[in-house]
Amino acid sequence: MLEKMRDFFEARLAGYDAHMMTNIESATEFYPYTAQMLPAIENGSILDLGCGTGLELEAYYLRCPTAKVMGIDLSKGMLSALRKKFADKDITLIVGSYFDVPLGEEAFEAAVSVESLHHFTKEQKAPLYAKLHTALKENGYFILTDYFSLSDEEEKMHRQNLIALKAEQGICDDEFYHYDTPLTVKHETEALLEAGFSAVEILNHWGATYTLKAVK
Ligand SMILES: C[S@@+](CC[C@H](N)C(=O)[O-])C[C@H]1O[C@@H](n2cnc3c(N)ncnc32)[C@H](O)[C@@H]1O
Repeated sequence: MLEKMRDFFEARLAGYDAHMMTNIESATEFYPYTAQMLPAIENGSILDLGCGTGLELEAYYLRCPTAKVMGIDLSKGMLSALRKKFADKDITLIVGSYFDVPLGEEAFEAAVSVESLHHFTKEQKAPLYAKLHTALKENGYFILTDYFSLSDEEEKMHRQNLIALKAEQGICDDEFYHYDTPLTVKHETEALLEAGFSAVEILNHWGATYTLKAVK
């Protein structure tokens, strides 16, 4: 049964961090690695898309305790958990969809997103990535750690499965439902380049989980 995205994460809030760190392969490696790829600038501004409870921020705050973070997430509960963990930090939390929240112009040294964007199509990401490009300062960059489809066939299969499930359940609204539809790295890279990023590099990978760096 498909669940609305927000409801899905609200319902799994208890034990979320432990679940991610024990059941998601290589999580103990890719969270610290992602944090390591963010800039170590005193008072630097970082945007986190789909920050959840802030797992990617834990190692980052150890490196950069004075960072100013803006985190966006659909789930109020996830953001409350994040706030509790980082009560002494300069952090702005916005409950909403990163597709809708204005990100401003040249506001951030870097942006990050972990395990969130694999729910959306290339077409959905195009305006988000264009907005993100505008929101980064000169030489700013976006670190994306997420899991990807390993072939065009796999990418197509996930999308078709979601369409079939929505049809079966008579869902015809435009709300976000929780179902993983990862793009291939090639299609994600195309979406970022088409949105104006000058270069996209694969920094690392653990099986199907990749860290990409998109430079403004
Ligand atoms: C698997 S969790 C990852 C959270 C965190 N980044 C981490 O790695 O632990 C996915 C998060 O993305 C959020 N999310 C999904 N779609 C979103 C959207 N359109 N706008 C904002 N947040 C979204 C969910 O609410 C959820 O907290």
